[in-house]
Amino acid sequence: MDRGSRTDVPSSTWITERDGHLHAEGCSLESIASAHGTPVHVVSSAAIRRAFREIDDALAGLPHLVCYAMKANGNPAILRLLAGLGAGVDAVSGGELHWAHRAGVPVERIVMSGVGKTDDELALALRLGIRSIHVESASELTVIEALAAARAPRGSTEPIRVGLRINPNVDPKTHPYIATGIHGTKFGLELDEARALAERIAASQHLTLEAVTSHIGSQLGDLGALTESVELTGRFFAWCRGRGLSPRMLDVGGGWPIAYGDEDEAYPSYARIGDAIRDGLARAGLLVEGRLADDVLLTIEPGRALVGDAAALLTRVVHVKHQGDKRFVVCDAAMTELIRPSLYGAYHAIVPVRAPSRLPVGSAEIVGPVCETGDFLAEGRPLAEVARGDLLVVRGTGAYGAAMSSEYNARPRAAEVMVEGATATVIRRRGRYEDLHHG
Ligand code: LLP
Repeated sequence: MDRGSRTDVPSSTWITERDGHLHAEGCSLESIASAHGTPVHVVSSAAIRRAFREIDDALAGLPHLVCYAMKANGNPAILRLLAGLGAGVDAVSGGELHWAHRAGVPVERIVMSGVGKTDDELALALRLGIRSIHVESASELTVIEALAAARAPRGSTEPIRVGLRINPNVDPKTHPYIATGIHGTKFGLELDEARALAERIAASQHLTLEAVTSHIGSQLGDLGALTESVELTGRFFAWCRGRGLSPRMLDVGGGWPIAYGDEDEAYPSYARIGDAIRDGLARAGLLVEGRLADDVLLTIEPGRALVGDAAALLTRVVHVKHQGDKRFVVCDAAMTELIRPSLYGAYHAIVPVRAPSRLPVGSAEIVGPVCETGDFLAEGRPLAEVARGDLLVVRGTGAYGAAMSSEYNARPRAAEVMVEGATATVIRRRGRYEDLHHG
C-alpha cells in the first residue's frame, strides 16, 4: 500500500476550500478545531448518505440488504444514520451486537461473523434473535446447537437461524493482512466441511440454515476475484437448496474499495462492482432473465465503502524539528488515532487546512508524539511549509480510524464530531484522564 512520495489527494464531495481554508460541509475546520480541540475525527453525514445511495443503486433490481460492517466505525450516531437509510449491520462481537441493538438496528437486519465468537457472545446473539449467526467452524456449530437445545425446554421452539461462511479460496490480490478468503487463513469453512455442516444443520431440530456467506477481503480491485467468489458462494447456496435446506440470504461479503490517493489505477466504480456480483450470480445459475428469485436476499457487508471517505482526522502541528536530513512535523494525532500507516504502511492524503493548494516545499515525516519509531502518519511525504499551530487534515480516515484507536501512552480518546451542513455535533466526547483507568 505504501507509496510515501505521492502527493495525490482524492477529490472530495464534502471537504472543500473556501476563502483559502478547508471546510467540512458548511463548517470551517478551523472553527471545529477551536470549538472541539484536536485531534478530532470529523464525520460527514452527507458523505455517508451519498455512499449508501451509490452502493444501494449498484444493486438496483436485485432484492438486497446492505449490512454495514460496523467494525469500520461503530459510533452509534453512524449506526442510527445508516439504519435509518435501511441498512442492517454485520457484527463481530458481543459489544457490536449490543451497540447495534441499542442504536435501533432491527434484529432482522443483523448478522454476525467472526471465527472466535465466545459462548457468551453466541448466547447474546440467540437472546436478541438476530437474522443469522454466520458459522465459521464445526466447533462453533456444536456450541450454538447446545445453546439452542438448552433453551428449547424453556418454551422457545423457533429454530436458531445460522449461516455457513465458506472460504472460497479466491485470492483478492489485496494487502495480505486484509485477504480473508484464501485457504491457509483462519476464516470461513472449506467447501467439504461446509457441506458436512449443512447436513448437520439439516438434521438438527434446533437449527435452520438462513444464510450462505463469504468475504474474500478488503479493497477489492480485481473484479474477476469477486465474481469467482460470488459464483462459488452462489453454487454452494444452490447446493444447499438442492439438499432440502432453504437458505434465504446469499451474503457475498464486503470489500468494496475507496480511493486513498496513492493508486496507480482507479478502482472500479460501484456500478461495476454491482455488475461483477450479477455476473457471479448468473454463473451460479441464480439469475433468470437478469432477476434473482424473490425468495433470495442478496446481502453485502461493506464497511470502508460506506464510511471510509466520510471522515477525516483533524490535527494540529505541535512542533517542527529538523533532525539528520529530515523535517519532522510533529502533530497531536498519532498511531493512537490512526494506526493504518504504522500497521499496513497505508497511505492517507494529508493537507494543510489553511491554503491547502500551496505547493510542497519538500519532504516531511509527519509523526505523532507516541514513543514508537513506527508512530507516523506519513513518511517522506511532500508537504508545504507548515509551522507550529497549523492544522492538517488527514483524509479517508472514516473506516478503521477511530475504530482502531487506542489509549497507548495514556492518551485519552479523540473526540468525534459529525457535521450536517453548517452544524457540528459531538458524537463521542473527548476522553478524559479519569477515563483511562477505572475500578
Ligand atoms: N465482512 C467481513 C466478514 C469482514 O471481515 C470485513 C472486514 C468486512 C465485511 C468489511 O470489509 P470492508 O468492506 O470494510 O473492506 N483494518 C483493515 C481492514 C480490516 C477488514 C477486516 N474485515 C484496514 O484498516 O484496512
